Amino acid sequence: MSTTSDSSAAPTPPIPALALFSLHGSVALVTGAARGIGQAAAIALAEASADVVCVLRRTSSSESTGEHTDVDHRVVPPSRRKAEEGTKPGAGVGGKVDDSEGAIREGGGEGGGEGEGGVKEKEKTQDTIAALGVRAYVVYADLEDMADVKTVWPRALALLGRERDGESGEGGEGEGVEGAGGEDGEGAQGQPRIHILVNCAGVQRRHPSVAFPEADWDTVLDVNLKACFLLAQAAGRHFLSFDATSGSGGGGYGRGGKIINFCSLLSYQGGFTVPAYAASKGALMQLTKALSNEWAHANVQVNGVSPGYVRTDM
Ligand SMILES: NC(=O)c1ccc[n+]([C@@H]2O[C@H](COP(=O)([O-])OP(=O)(O)OC[C@H]3O[C@@H](n4cnc5c(N)ncnc54)[C@H](OP(=O)(O)O)[C@@H]3O)[C@@H](O)[C@H]2O)c1
Repeated sequence: MSTTSDSSAAPTPPIPALALFSLHGSVALVTGAARGIGQAAAIALAEASADVVCVLRRTSSSESTGEHTDVDHRVVPPSRRKAEEGTKPGAGVGGKVDDSEGAIREGGGEGGGEGEGGVKEKEKTQDTIAALGVRAYVVYADLEDMADVKTVWPRALALLGRERDGESGEGGEGEGVEGAGGEDGEGAQGQPRIHILVNCAGVQRRHPSVAFPEADWDTVLDVNLKACFLLAQAAGRHFLSFDATSGSGGGGYGRGGKIINFCSLLSYQGGFTVPAYAASKGALMQLTKALSNEWAHANVQVNGVSPGYVRTDM
């Protein structure tokens, strides 16, 4: 056995370990991104270079004052806004984007009289994301309202489509805003793409089971379970609409996608005075397994995360 080494051989290039975890070129849609764990998840995805669509309620339950636009939009950091305004041929197409962004950002000024402490906290997520140099989008929805929930995915795709068409100067028929949200895979190779869904929004209601109000049961099951299913269904339709060899829509990911559902220790345990929450989180874990079984063949990974106790408003 020779122990001599060939000094003329090229050194092994360093393994770009962090690059293996990069989400550059991918788009993540995150519910509950206004605060708490969802906010942290949205920012973490942005730190990994993903563009992020934040799904926010029009008026956060943590905000006592303030109104703001309910127009979905993209957030551009002030430092880049001027440059982009000058170069973007699609500023007209996505006019709503810039208008609403200005209205929100200017807060207590011409944006509609939001007070200090009003929409500011909610803005933190998208501002932080935009400042990381990736794109931040906002889609407004009340996840208790299933009619609203069903529009989230198409509206997010429409928002991405408006920007893409604006940037490229295209905007041809069938690829624009209206065609972007197709659920049946038609035109999939031309449509904008979302790669990751994070179902993080959640609510808790505590009452002894004998007195648990039916309305609270419905709220918890709707937000924590039904909305997650409807969003996962929309995501699944989208992910499965790409063919295995396609690299279209950005990122070159082929067919597939990721769904991450925020479950709970209460997916495993019963807790006390939280029957609706325990039922919703137990069911969400079962839903995670069911979707995972059904879509794994198409490179769609559905996973659940069950955090321990985290100090949030919940
Ligand atoms: N904190 C914990 O210890 C813990 C442990 C395990 C699992 N989890 C799970 O982790 C997830 C995040 O919890 P968290 O502690 O971060 O909660 P949080 O601080 O109370 O935040 C909840 C988020 O969900 C959003 N949301 C609630 N109802 C909504 C609705 N009807 N429409 C749209 N958005 C709505 C809230 O938006 P607004 O700001 O508009 O209200 C907020 O962004 C939840 O699914 C929770 O069950 C939490």
